[in-house]
Formats: sequence, C-alpha cells, structure tokens
Amino acid sequence: MLPSAKKVHALLQQHDGQATIVNDHIALRTVNLPGLNVASLAQHFTALGYVQSGEYDFASKKLDAWHYQHPDLTLPKVFISELRVNELSSAAQTIIQKMIAQMLPDAVQADDFLYSGTHWQVSSQDYQTLLQESEYAAWLSVWGLRANHFTVFVNHLKKYSELSKVVSLLQRHGYVLNVAGGVVKGSKDQLLRQSSTMADQIMVNFSDAGEQKVSTCYYEFAQRYMNKDGVLYQGFVPESADKIFESTNSGASHD
Ligand code: NI
Repeated sequence: MLPSAKKVHALLQQHDGQATIVNDHIALRTVNLPGLNVASLAQHFTALGYVQSGEYDFASKKLDAWHYQHPDLTLPKVFISELRVNELSSAAQTIIQKMIAQMLPDAVQADDFLYSGTHWQVSSQDYQTLLQESEYAAWLSVWGLRANHFTVFVNHLKKYSELSKVVSLLQRHGYVLNVAGGVVKGSKDQLLRQSSTMADQIMVNFSDAGEQKVSTCYYEFAQRYMNKDGVLYQGFVPESADKIFESTNSGASHD
C-alpha cells in the first residue's frame, strides 16, 4: 500500500539513530454522505477518548475537515476531511452515490471500519470522471477508508529535529517531495511547518480497463512550535494543509 513508508522509516532510523519514530497524525478522507461521513468515522475515535479539537474549511477543494486529539498527547492526532459531494457535478454525485449504495448498512459498526478500504466497485471510466473534477474523490473511490498518510513528528527525532534537515536528507536520497506552496509549508509564526513526499503511483486493476496507474499514499513530516505560553501547538494550518492534499495529484493531473 505504501511502498515508501518502510524505506522512509529505515532512512530516518539509520541516520537519526532513533529507535522509534513518533507519529504526529494520521489522515483519513471521506464524503459527507450518511454511512460514510465524518461522524461515522469519528465515533470510532471518540469511543477511545479522542475529542474533536479543530475545524477547517478548504473551499477550492470543496472539503471540510476536523482534527481529533486524545488527552494523552503521545497518541497520534487524527485529521479527517470530508468532501462536500453536493457541490460536485451531477455526474460525479451519481458515481459517489452509487458507491455508497453498495455499502452494507452495518459496515460502519465494524471494529476495522476505519481501515476497511472500499465497500464498492468502481470502473476506470468512473474513476476518470471523478479525477477530472476532484482528485480527492478519485482517490477515495479507489482506496476507500485507510490512512491517506502518516506523519513523522520531527520534534521527536534526535539529530534531525529540524524539518529542513529531514527535507535535505530525503532529497539527497531521491525522494520526490510535494512542492505545492513550497517544499516546506508553514512557518514558525504559524507554529507548524510541514513537508510531504508525493504519493507512490501503483498499478490498479479495473474490471473495465485492466491495469491503470493511480496515486496511493504518502508520508508527511511535521515540526511543531510552542506558542507564547510555552504550549506546543497541536492544530493545523489551513493554507499548508490545502497544499498537502495535493500530494496525491499525479503528474498528469488536471490542475
Ligand atoms: Ni497531514
């Protein structure tokens, strides 16, 4: 699923000498339709003590998002975004409604719901239709529920606790990084700096068209700063997150 992830971990462990990599957050993608909306996903986290902590709007991508955090801040935060399906073309809405209609009503209750992948079949033609309009919708149609990315919490590294050093290391080792909005997104003033790899492209078999190359998942790197009260910032910066979403854009993408 995420061929680079093991390599990224190995690279950091080899250079940093750190035995464990701390995960800042995972990110999940979904749509605002009953059965698959944020509420359906979030209940699995709130049952574990997670609390809804931040709300974000990404107008150009037609997304709402929330982050959830646990009182025990050593646990990764969860960033869940939701596509406003009602703002898409009727063709795209029909495809997404067709996907949701294939879900079993009790699927949402399953313990592994958050990592259950797709609950539907999608044709290459439908995938391409979605891709023209919303890269996000196209990604979701192929991958469904799963972590879209994991995030190395750079603060916890030893020699590489500065994001710029991690970025240089990745670039020296040939990783392709997301350059939308700059390789390093955000600033110390915004209390969060982020970078990410571009998603791996892998071949997926569509019943109507055979194998096609699609974007999978990516890796993110986050460095957080303390606010003036000495508290480490836990939220997200909308302008940066907006660009991080583009880590799954393929080279041949429409925008
Ligand atoms: Ni993220």
